[in-house]
Amino acid sequence: MTAKIPLVTVHPASLKYLQKGHPWVTLDSFSKKFPQSPFLTTRNAKSSFLLLHDPHHSKIRARLWSSQQGQSDRCDMETFHLQLVERLKAALTKRKMLKSSHPQVFNRDNYYLFFAEADFIPGLQGLLLGNSFILFDFTRTIWEPHIDFIFSQVKQLTSTVLNQDIQEFFYQKRPGPFLSYPSKTAAPANDFVIAEFNLRYSLNFNLGSDLGLYTDMSSVRFHTSPLYSDARVLNLFSYTGAFSLFALSQGARQVTSVDLSPKYMARLNENLLLNPQLNASIHHSLVGPVNSKVKELIDASALFDVIVCDPPSASSDGHSQHNHWKSMGEFLSMLDTLVASGGTLLVFNNTHQITRKKFEQDLAQIPALNKYTLREFYGLSFDCPRLPHFPEGDYLKGVALKKNHV
Ligand SMILES: C[S@@+](CC[C@H](N)C(=O)[O-])C[C@H]1O[C@@H](n2cnc3c(N)ncnc32)[C@H](O)[C@@H]1O
Repeated sequence: MTAKIPLVTVHPASLKYLQKGHPWVTLDSFSKKFPQSPFLTTRNAKSSFLLLHDPHHSKIRARLWSSQQGQSDRCDMETFHLQLVERLKAALTKRKMLKSSHPQVFNRDNYYLFFAEADFIPGLQGLLLGNSFILFDFTRTIWEPHIDFIFSQVKQLTSTVLNQDIQEFFYQKRPGPFLSYPSKTAAPANDFVIAEFNLRYSLNFNLGSDLGLYTDMSSVRFHTSPLYSDARVLNLFSYTGAFSLFALSQGARQVTSVDLSPKYMARLNENLLLNPQLNASIHHSLVGPVNSKVKELIDASALFDVIVCDPPSASSDGHSQHNHWKSMGEFLSMLDTLVASGGTLLVFNNTHQITRKKFEQDLAQIPALNKYTLREFYGLSFDCPRLPHFPEGDYLKGVALKKNHV
């Protein structure tokens, strides 16, 4: 049966953004008054927009499902499910093609089968980790009624499109605990191993939302490979060591990892043991806040050919909360002392609050970086695509800055 969908008025700015392709209606005086209905429509002179309503979300009150020219205020569950399956199928087919056109970038067990808005499945990501599948739900209520349907479709499509069998299913409503599916009990606490670029990593559901490996950085990691041959590498905010292990595997002469967390550093060292092909004796672990560890390295006149600086958007130094980007100018000026002539600074920012434009402008204004040449931009790509006109989805930004020879 086709149900009539409530027609709502959205803020004129939201309507303008929807028309451009921005997929969110945020909380404001208009969206606060939306009627209780899972689907809503809104329209301007040209188009109508079908929205998925999320009345309990603190910021994103509706997500764009589809737009069409002219009027449309009807939708039924069968059509919605058919469209959802089409989108899942398109996303998986895209991964299949990318895997075959870029086998080296996809030489890994971890990749996203679908990446939310950028695959037109708003607020929902599907991550494959070996033969496990994790569904990340960023909405409050949009997807919950459809979870059984989504899991069954993903299982079937992964088998038919990618020729792969998923053995275990997990669900996380962010921020929230990981649950096994279909039991909806807490996900098991045991470690499991996956491979990325011929390196093995031990993952666990208690290692944060990314389980011990940032898959959205995988293709970026891959593209930094030309930097490490015979290099002295400093990996700041190293977490469980993905950049450190990768640098070692690509011929680094020596790698130093710094992280505040003894738990993550212990996991980094376990990961080293999991990869006996790497020379663990040329890896050094420093546990503590980066600021003081960097000062100690400066005092010791250390020099590095590659420094990876991938801070969290906000973090603690053990005493107070930091917004790393605000103090980045000062910090990068300090790091410059540690970069050898001809060396490379890899700087990342992982928050959509800093747009790519601001990221680049801020870096350009740091006097100590005047002697660097921009060699590479990094961002979400491959299994983690970006949607045009959607800066919130373009959260991962990075650059490779090469220090000019003196
Ligand atoms: C975004 S993760 C880094 C991801 C890592 N680069 C990777 O690719 O796997 C941030 C890491 O920074 C660490 N961290 C946060 N604040 C810190 C600080 N002040 N000093 C050192 N490490 C810190 C956290 O423990 C966490 O492991």
